[in-house]
Amino acid sequence: TDKNSPGVLFIPDNWPGYPLDLFTFPEHYSGDLDCVYIPHGVIMDRTERLARNIMDDLGDRDIVVLCVLKGGYQFCSDLVERIKVLSCNSSKSLLMRVDFIRLKSYLNDRSTQDLQIIGAESLSVLSGKAIVDTGKTMKTLLTHVRAFKPNMIRVAGLLVKRVPNSSGCLPDYVGFEIPNRFVVGYALDYNEYFRDLNHICVISESGKQKYKV
Ligand code: HPA
Ligand code: MG
Repeated sequence: TDKNSPGVLFIPDNWPGYPLDLFTFPEHYSGDLDCVYIPHGVIMDRTERLARNIMDDLGDRDIVVLCVLKGGYQFCSDLVERIKVLSCNSSKSLLMRVDFIRLKSYLNDRSTQDLQIIGAESLSVLSGKAIVDTGKTMKTLLTHVRAFKPNMIRVAGLLVKRVPNSSGCLPDYVGFEIPNRFVVGYALDYNEYFRDLNHICVISESGKQKYKV
């Protein structure tokens, strides 16, 4: 991480989230959620700021954005959109390529031992990942990316979880630091469900049971 690394929005352990009935969400998930943990609008506002921080650090470099699928697709897409807007409104033009990598390590709400890397051939400067907990996935990813010898690698993560045995491997740009709770929405899934939810929410016990495999 850079010496002058920018801040992170800290969500404390006792953060209860917002009542669901104050927001809208897909009808098919009623009963499956406990609360709105981070509303979509706040995610977007924070992403806009991350985009500015990234632009400030880029100088005149061109970039390859490596989106970490599937959970990172929404974050990556919104981040790229903000970077494009900023670059259009500034004098320096930014050449950007976008590529994708797929990682999978979760079954139900547990991390599995094996990490599958599926696809991805290119060198990268900026990786967009939605969530970092132990940092194990991120470590594997960085090893993979370094093999292509890019001149600079930066990782943007929307969420970082406060977990006990973290690898100490953290993104350079972090949207939110959250307690060690399982969250869904904004492309984050529970067994492939809840990706079609705009807000980041906490899943309920009955939701876990309903979509368990
Ligand atoms: N939600 C969804 N996917 C995840 C999470 C989470 O909290 N942590 C790691 N993968
Ligand atoms: Mg998942």
